Amino acid sequence: MAENFSLVGNTREEQYVSLLPQINALLGDEQNLIAILSNVAAALKQQFGFFWVGFYLVAEDSLVLGPFQGTVACMRIAKGKGVCGTAWETATSQLVPDVDAFPGHIACSNDSKSEVVIPIIKEEKVVAVLDVDSDKLDDFSQTDLIYLEKLCNCLSTYF
Ligand code: SME
Repeated sequence: MAENFSLVGNTREEQYVSLLPQINALLGDEQNLIAILSNVAAALKQQFGFFWVGFYLVAEDSLVLGPFQGTVACMRIAKGKGVCGTAWETATSQLVPDVDAFPGHIACSNDSKSEVVIPIIKEEKVVAVLDVDSDKLDDFSQTDLIYLEKLCNCLSTYF
């Protein structure tokens, strides 16, 4: 339950190792997608203090803004556009150490400096993406990719 949610760990890897089982416990047997994605965004924001954490959901020919924590953001992203649209089109995670160096990056806030986007794949189709933004340059590594991909793999079962 939320009151038992504890933020521990020094390295980012230790933080993920502590956080992921707690997210599983937090979700329990809930099946409502909006409730689940909302609390996952909150848990990541609470644990790491990232600038922006949220989901974009595939809806026909666009990604549409879903549950998130952070500043207001663009509501629709076309396939292949920006980091999120690229993750959707290619069905691969995108690790962007410097958003200004990513051709076509969509700047929802000038404070966002680096970014990681993970596709959520269900039955070989991208159904959503998880977008995590930092206000620090080069804030993400393979560690983030590994653990966020594990998380997104679990989340795919709720779609
Ligand atoms: N930067 C993203 C757009 C979403 S916002 O960062 C929340 C992109 O280039 O797709």
